[in-house]
Amino acid sequence: MRGPSLAAQLERAFPGIASIRQPSLRKLVADLWQYVADVNPQWLEIEAIPLFPSLPIETYGNLANHIRAMARVAETVVPVYAELWSIELSLDDFLAAVYVHDAAKVIEFVKKDGELAAIPGFNHALEAGRIVRDLGGPEAIAHMVECHSFAGALTMPRTRAAQLFLFLDPLCLPVFPEQGKGAVERHLDSNGWQDPRTKEKYRSPLETSARQRR
Ligand SMILES: [Fe+2]
Repeated sequence: MRGPSLAAQLERAFPGIASIRQPSLRKLVADLWQYVADVNPQWLEIEAIPLFPSLPIETYGNLANHIRAMARVAETVVPVYAELWSIELSLDDFLAAVYVHDAAKVIEFVKKDGELAAIPGFNHALEAGRIVRDLGGPEAIAHMVECHSFAGALTMPRTRAAQLFLFLDPLCLPVFPEQGKGAVERHLDSNGWQDPRTKEKYRSPLETSARQRR
């Protein structure tokens, strides 16, 4: 993904970037993808990037589809919050965050001896937040991006936009329990948390009082 071909690929893969109103945010998206492509020039094609090395594209779709899905859901969620709760969120911020939040996976996923692997200890969300700041992007977007990962390690969101963005990510992740570990279980795993087995441990107070009446 080098030179003019990267710009052409971005236009083809993510035509929705054009609907970001602020030119500075469209530039941030282009600069950030250029940044990650420069750090790891192994990747030649955006559509070839998987969600994760262990999640084959044939089963789970590619990273670009995840990003396109998030843009569409963001376009729905932002007006719903405005209409039902009079909570104004910036669609521009959401779209810019959508298009950059996973781009650091270009650096994280490395081909070695023909095998694709993630760099151990690399946190693509925190790295993307750092790069947004390095490129002079808005703090609000840097924060949305740095704590977006629901399927990975948790970084606590401190704004309403960042909290909603954290929920938006797994909503657009077709990684379900029927196929193995789902997005929720993966999130628990990467935080060292256990399945709380709530249903197995729950005793309904209603059943207890019914038993006592018998
Ligand atoms: Fe994502």
